[in-house]
Amino acid sequence: MGNGFDFSVERLAGTGVPGGKAPASESGRYTGQSDGTDLNVGHYKRSPQHGGVNVPLQNGIGAGTFYLETFGCQMNEHDSEKVAGVLLARGYTQVERTDEASVILYNTCSIREKAAQKVFSRLGEYRTTRKEGQVIGVLGCVAQQEGEDIFERAPWVSLVCGSASYRKLPELLAQLEAGGKRITGLDLDTDETFETEITRRDNPWRAYLTIIEGCDKACSYCVVPYTRGPERSRASASVLVEVRQLADMGYTEVQLLGQTVNSYADPSARRMRFSELLEAVAEVAGIRRVRFTTSHPRDFGKDIVEAIETVPGICEHVHLPVQSGSTNVLRAMARTYTRDEYLEKIALLHGSKRRISITTDLIVGFPGETEKDFKETLSLLDAVQYDGAFSFKYSPRPNTPSLKMDDAIPEEEKSRRLATLMEKQREIQRARNERLVGETVEVLVEGKSKRENQWSGHTSSNKVMNFTSPEQKLLGHYVQVRVTGASPNSLIGEHTKV
Ligand code: 5AD
Ligand code: SF4
Repeated sequence: MGNGFDFSVERLAGTGVPGGKAPASESGRYTGQSDGTDLNVGHYKRSPQHGGVNVPLQNGIGAGTFYLETFGCQMNEHDSEKVAGVLLARGYTQVERTDEASVILYNTCSIREKAAQKVFSRLGEYRTTRKEGQVIGVLGCVAQQEGEDIFERAPWVSLVCGSASYRKLPELLAQLEAGGKRITGLDLDTDETFETEITRRDNPWRAYLTIIEGCDKACSYCVVPYTRGPERSRASASVLVEVRQLADMGYTEVQLLGQTVNSYADPSARRMRFSELLEAVAEVAGIRRVRFTTSHPRDFGKDIVEAIETVPGICEHVHLPVQSGSTNVLRAMARTYTRDEYLEKIALLHGSKRRISITTDLIVGFPGETEKDFKETLSLLDAVQYDGAFSFKYSPRPNTPSLKMDDAIPEEEKSRRLATLMEKQREIQRARNERLVGETVEVLVEGKSKRENQWSGHTSSNKVMNFTSPEQKLLGHYVQVRVTGASPNSLIGEHTKV
């Protein structure tokens, strides 16, 4: 993480779920708006304390220091913010370099094979470089998936903990501090969510908060139900308390997170629907923008579109992964909807009074995907006119039903389909963004370029806007910007004073 704002499209395209971080992937590509922020400004500052952290000080390692690196999606990024909060509350201090840290933690992703491989190659580096006394821990999806096997592959690892066990972290840390060598937290069987009093937030403008963890959907290609466990929602009152705290801290934008955020089911007697929760969050004094990701098409209904229409604070953007435009492939993927049913949800969005931007995730080369199936995905792009899409080559994953499916598509063919898909989507985005030239839109200013008078931020529709303004103090402010130019991934504009 750097402290500057990076304007390059390459960098922007590296981040993930629109409005957040993409699942880390070399095979997946983003053709769309993205979270342009790469800021690392902790809101939570704490003076270093080392009481209770029993790690020796040596070889340049600071006692009670931790290094935490995150791979993968926005959910992982936010889990890391909470993990860092737990460690800070215990008296640890965070360091930027592994060679200074007494505890080195990797919060990992296993959604595609390359993401998981990256974790093992990173761990492999410690075979020779690990310093005496350093504790190395693996958190997140690879931890859950590989479990204790990690100790065999990398015997220098002392902690393996999946995300469904994070609520036990203080206990696991205590065992480590007491000298424990092979500590695990691998329980999946939980109805609890991970709530902490302190979250060390990295993004100074947009605060993320998880409202539902896990996934019950069982798509045939996906590891998430195995790595993150069953769906469990936080009580609406607890979510709203956190939003009020965030508003008091000065945040004006919040993003509600969940693998299937709109499957939210309030466990409290209040039984607030997801769309009601969106409205309630937007009503909190001081909150100006509410975002949410990722929505599952099956649970996406009219009430959500109506909430966006009636409450201006709910951002005009929906991330609605389709995965494929072919009903046959959708059936094999166990996505629980057909192409036509998905298009009915899109019709709700297209018919809205507000111009809601739509983004998606797509997988090419699923086992048995024919040329005809692939063409149906291409034609779906025409029908929907997405504002952004994350496209991935199918990656066979352990334990998933699709692993055993026949008719694997050769790697070169997957690459060809991915390139064709991305090229088409790029042109759709170019045309969509060009249509905005001449309009004036509201932007939350999140970054300042090294170049004079150059600023950047996001529109309500989550498009990246790079614009000029002679003003000096714009960070964190909402400004009106006239669109003067467009590319597939971002808009160019000029600050207009009203
Ligand atoms: N192969 C390729 N892409 C995958 N995704 C999930 N599992 C796989 C897999 N096995 C993609 C889906 C999902 C996004 C987060 O990652 O598109 O929406
Ligand atoms: Fe994976 Fe499907 Fe759940 Fe999304 S909805 S996390 S793709 S199983």
